Amino acid sequence: MKIMVVGGGGREHAIIKKLRENPKVSEIYALPGNGGIAADAQCVPIGAKDLDAITAFAVKTGIDYAVVAPDDPLVLGLVDRLEFMGIPCFGPNRRAAIIEGSKAFSKELMHKYGIPTAEYRIFDDMDAALGYVDDAPLPVVVKADGLALGKGVIIARSREEARDAIRSMMQDKLFGASGDKVVIEEFLEGPEVSVLAFTDGKTMIPMVSSMDHKRAGDGDTGLNTGGMGTVAPNPYYTPEIAAECMEKIFLPTMRAMNAEDRTFKGCLYFGLMLTPRGPKVIEYNCRFGDPETQVVLPLLESDLLDIMTAVTEGRLAEADVRFSDKNAACVIMASKGYPAKYEKGFEIYVPEDLKKNVYFAGAALKDGKLVTSGGRVLGVTAVADTLENALEKAYEGVFCVCFDNAYFRRDIGRRALEAGGIQPGQGV
Ligand code: AMP
Ligand code: GLY
Repeated sequence: MKIMVVGGGGREHAIIKKLRENPKVSEIYALPGNGGIAADAQCVPIGAKDLDAITAFAVKTGIDYAVVAPDDPLVLGLVDRLEFMGIPCFGPNRRAAIIEGSKAFSKELMHKYGIPTAEYRIFDDMDAALGYVDDAPLPVVVKADGLALGKGVIIARSREEARDAIRSMMQDKLFGASGDKVVIEEFLEGPEVSVLAFTDGKTMIPMVSSMDHKRAGDGDTGLNTGGMGTVAPNPYYTPEIAAECMEKIFLPTMRAMNAEDRTFKGCLYFGLMLTPRGPKVIEYNCRFGDPETQVVLPLLESDLLDIMTAVTEGRLAEADVRFSDKNAACVIMASKGYPAKYEKGFEIYVPEDLKKNVYFAGAALKDGKLVTSGGRVLGVTAVADTLENALEKAYEGVFCVCFDNAYFRRDIGRRALEAGGIQPGQGV
């Protein structure tokens, strides 16, 4: 089978490495992939948002199955385009991808179907939004409606900060049309859990849970990033909480999307907060998370391609989906300065025996050498019987990787290890 994976980050590298395990896979094309992915797939220099070129390439090459990993092409409708050309895909169509593409849509969906989430108001008028934060309880959370590279969320601790956030989104168009509408919501507190789930619209099978570390600095300080590291499972996510989420969040979301004639097929990502009043949805993503995928897929014991095709064909109920009960940890190595300004073009050295545990993101080939080309450069993942050992192994790997201006957080997993009251390792 000829497989095409759209995207070019660590998540896509993890997906590609897992797909390779299936003997039916003959070729994997990554669009655009990256210099590190080139060791495991044929990289084709077509951007993930270039729907025309991707579709033309897939038809010309005779692609048998496509995996669309990033949010942008899903929200733009790449799956609809490929399916129209007769190419089966993993990923939601445009109507379903709106669950991530519009926060206003997802909040209204949760409200309509009684799915627990933060209280909210939606505004398309800036003056009304500014007036609202005059007496909203603080802190207050301001979110751009559309996609914003994970940066469209501001937790405002003062009214001035909230007003600045609203103006930057609605007036200065910091995130373009994504800020035409804003969602202003209640600030929630509690441990965060990421749960990715396979669904074909009839069956919902959650994968092992994980914990992301979104802030750039140790101790959860500094700017929000795409994610600086992950651990799985998430020790806060006990079997009891998992059962509650299944009943109150996961299945109701699947049914709500069906009822709206927006059946979701693919990987649905639930960003949850375990508040004192129960688990609530912080966000939905219409795709695998990054770097969550870099700890979740290494724990998958069954075959990814078989699961994906079962989702596409609506046979997920029959699929074999099994996760190991081990722990995984991933530490992201970034370019110093990320997510703001950083330099690139530095040569990357990764020891040969570590390569199987490394997922490349911002890496490019230049004159036959691998060099840094982005903010998040790579992730080092380790799997072990305990979280402590997985973290130790991941950091051992990190210390063997070299490139100039490398930056990584030194406290990935600390909060998970300290999980008060719940024995680490009991997560699911
Ligand atoms: P999002 O892009 O919606 O996942 O938001 C990014 C991050 O902002 C989340 O991972 C949370 O840490 C934080 N966040 C978003 N919404 C809220 C909220 N209502 N209350 C507290 N924190 C939030
Ligand atoms: N790690 C968060 C995300 O993929 O959106």
